[in-house]
Amino acid sequence: MIIINTKNYEDMSRKAANILSAQVILKHNCVLGLATGSTVEGIYKQLIMMNQNGDVDFSGVRSVNLDEYVGLAGDHNQSYRYFMDTNLFNQINIHIDNTNVPDGMAADIEAECIRYENLIKELGGIDLQLLGLGHNGHIGFNEPDDYFPLLTHRVQLKESTIKANSRFFENEDQVPREAITMGIKSIMQAKRILLCVSGEAKAEILKKVLSGPVTPEVPGSILQLHPNLTVVADEAALSRF
Ligand code: GLP
Repeated sequence: MIIINTKNYEDMSRKAANILSAQVILKHNCVLGLATGSTVEGIYKQLIMMNQNGDVDFSGVRSVNLDEYVGLAGDHNQSYRYFMDTNLFNQINIHIDNTNVPDGMAADIEAECIRYENLIKELGGIDLQLLGLGHNGHIGFNEPDDYFPLLTHRVQLKESTIKANSRFFENEDQVPREAITMGIKSIMQAKRILLCVSGEAKAEILKKVLSGPVTPEVPGSILQLHPNLTVVADEAALSRF
């Protein structure tokens, strides 16, 4: 595990974007596993600048996103497809057909989970998976539980996650109660993982994730077992170490 301690959110975003862009430069047709949330917004802004400056070319890149809310269409402004389109895909030269987000409106959600898992396989696996961290230790939408869910699956969101994510919706009632998420095995099979964490509010959970017991009660703790994990976190997030 490599831990990169950065000054603040901006510094974290730049360093993480550099790692992602190095991956794309080294393998132009790589498969990037992408994430949503406020942690990664700054990283995507940096990638857009790098792309516009001609420093990184996304034309060969394929992407798979971690998760999507069940019941939100891609054009709903809180869907993760919409987040990705507006915060990254529409502003870089990636081919939109090469981008993948689970379909939260699929008529058969279980079939969609199987399709998505197969898609990751067909793409040849994930070269670099970007992850944020939920306040309860979730990665993707793998919520605390008494087992690690392995593959892409449908999940009931925890009250704490619904509350945390309600800041993006008009009120808490509008937050979907279910999501589709890549599973722990789907994530752990990525060749390399880049976990990005910012802010004092995540300091306690980040300490548990990186140095507590590996337990499904703290889903991110499984990352300790990944052979190629890079953590880019700011001083505030690393303040409990
Ligand atoms: C959501 C996403 C996660 C993300 C988490 C943290 O729940 N499903 O993939 O890591 O939010 O979000 P933020 O970066 O906004 O704190």
